[in-house]
Amino acid sequence: MNKVTIRVPATTANLGPGFDAFGCALSLYTDVTFEETDAGLEITGCPEEFTGPDNLAYVAYCAVLASMSEELRGVKIHIDARIPVCRGLGSSAALLVAGAMGANALRGNKLSTQGLLNITNAMEGHPDNLAPAFYGGLTASMVDNGLPVCVSFPLHPEWEFLALVPDFDLPTPKARAVLPDQVSRADAIYNISHGALVLKALELGDEKLLRNAMQDRLHQNYRKSLIPDFEAIEALVRPTGAGFCLSGAGPTVLCVTRDKDLEQKLAQKLDTVTTAHWQMLPLFVEFQGAHVVPDLQ
Ligand code: HSE
Repeated sequence: MNKVTIRVPATTANLGPGFDAFGCALSLYTDVTFEETDAGLEITGCPEEFTGPDNLAYVAYCAVLASMSEELRGVKIHIDARIPVCRGLGSSAALLVAGAMGANALRGNKLSTQGLLNITNAMEGHPDNLAPAFYGGLTASMVDNGLPVCVSFPLHPEWEFLALVPDFDLPTPKARAVLPDQVSRADAIYNISHGALVLKALELGDEKLLRNAMQDRLHQNYRKSLIPDFEAIEALVRPTGAGFCLSGAGPTVLCVTRDKDLEQKLAQKLDTVTTAHWQMLPLFVEFQGAHVVPDLQ
């Protein structure tokens, strides 16, 4: 086999209090095709600025080949990215996962998923998007002795993750730069306790418990200043009873609900309280992680 396409789901990290730990795969995808050649590197399907050797899919592809002591040949990479870039929906993690799985698949799947996670986590720095991108569903992760350890959690099947995606981006390094180096004991306790209950609420499908538990003191308050309209949208969503949080580092915000009419209810008012344009994307849990797309030709 010298050609393979990898499909990777979008992911939302943190889920409120689970900063750098919780993540969930969502029903939006990036497909990346890798075809080995005798020429050098060719990347298509993305803006010119991302077609060099620092493209994350290629960086992960090279790292996995190196870890297997496999020869690096020429490769054509085609990216079909439906996950919006720099919006807090795991677009970077998706490229890393695709590159790692693409290299592994082309050379006989010598590495386990845990091995691929170890390599990509060393690049990304935190496993909260990578774990659900690899495994699907809801995951919680820790880094122990430098290596990621991830577990899957049960999830009620009827949640809708209504993503509100603005027309501006927010690079993750900028959204991490505003966070304090130290937090108080009270804030640490707040997040640990709320995080445990978020996982239970998501399992039970308990929207009232989720709305109360899905609150955070470690990152969201600091990031609000970087996201125009955040507070106005929060004020619009909270009375509906839905869970509400920043998706990853933002700027996308998430309403987590079992109310099938929430999108319609918000649509009537969203434009009247916001200054930017916010697109509503009704997403659902993707229980399947990244995988090879069967070649139907
Ligand atoms: N946990 C990360 C953050 C997700 O909130 O900064 C973004 O990569």
